Amino acid sequence: MRIAVLRETADAERRVAATPETVRKLIALGATVAVETGAGTGANIADAAFTDAGATVADRAATIADADLILAVQGPDAADLPGLKSGAMLAAILSPFGRRDAVDGYASAGITAMAMELMPRITRAQSMDILSSQSNLSGYKAVIDAAEAYGRAFPMMMTAAGTISAARVFVMGVGVAGLQAIATARRLGALVSATDVRAATKEQIESLGAKAIFVENVAGIAGEGSGGYATEMSDEYKAAQAALVSSHIAKQDIVITTALIPGRPAPRLVSDAQIASMRAGSVIVDLAVEAGGNVEGAVAGAAPVIHGVKVIGHRNMPSRLAADASALYARNLYNFIAAFWDKDAGGLKLADDDEIVKGVTLTRGGALVHERLAAA
Ligand code: NAI
Repeated sequence: MRIAVLRETADAERRVAATPETVRKLIALGATVAVETGAGTGANIADAAFTDAGATVADRAATIADADLILAVQGPDAADLPGLKSGAMLAAILSPFGRRDAVDGYASAGITAMAMELMPRITRAQSMDILSSQSNLSGYKAVIDAAEAYGRAFPMMMTAAGTISAARVFVMGVGVAGLQAIATARRLGALVSATDVRAATKEQIESLGAKAIFVENVAGIAGEGSGGYATEMSDEYKAAQAALVSSHIAKQDIVITTALIPGRPAPRLVSDAQIASMRAGSVIVDLAVEAGGNVEGAVAGAAPVIHGVKVIGHRNMPSRLAADASALYARNLYNFIAAFWDKDAGGLKLADDDEIVKGVTLTRGGALVHERLAAA
């Protein structure tokens, strides 16, 4: 089985889908690996490091030729895979709900397209979960970005010249990114509080040494839908949450928002009036900015100052930690491949009825096979 690793072409995408470590492991499974020239540059991996690991390094046409499985971070359109044989597989972030034409293109080209971000959140798939591995880094980086933009220190400091008080950090949305943001802000010495709609997160927040800010006594508070994800909340809940957040946010120096609801635009959590209530020089980082944003006025790829508060909305946060993000992403892909590797056949054997295979496979044999896409 021949595995091809592409150089990413999307703007500001510095990650790569394999590292020398995973190339060695793929070869140990019995695969041959071809890497496109310059694929690792953004993650500080030289072509020679891939060659030393046993891969061949070549231009895109030669990399793709005869490939059975293409690995990428952001899935290229079928048209960008010239010469790829029909029946080949593609494993990458494919954003199928926003790129329906691209999905149809995979079907027409006979590609078995697998969207790795649709990995089911089950125990068996934890080591293949790219959303978790990348969100964790995003949560960390959001705090580092906030600290960089904040004109004050995070920890309390008692000096001969007087005392500096600790920064107050409020994390909104306590999934994988939010938990890492809390932990990182705590390590930097901030006073941290956090909120979520899922009641189960209260204990997690407190176990990290942060204060849980929660709406109480409102109907439908559990907030948890299928797969541990959040659901859209009632209007009554939203009003109670807004009131609670308003009084709390006015006392915060840093706000990190991470709230997402699968298949819907990100919930609006911070209004213009709430931003105006914060002290000048405060910083907000909106990690949901590419999904529509949690913060009013946040702009993807920009950092406007609104009422004296800097509102940071970086695109593609994980790519800003490209070396670590690539290492984890590449291991996620390797773990997926290894789990379905058939030693005797010397290749991947993807059982159609396997929960993981069903969860990620969009197209196969020229047809759309994903339940959620077919229903969309
Ligand atoms: P996410 O990225 O979809 O959302 C981030 C957070 O925002 C979530 O905690 C969500 O509850 C929260 N949120 C949504 N609407 C909100 C609102 N209006 N106000 C405040 N907060 C709001 O979440 P992520 O990080 O993908 O995690 C989702 C779930 O999946 C969690 O329960 C997590 O523990 C679970 N998980 C399970 C895994 C496994 O079993 N393999 C792996 C990773 C995560």
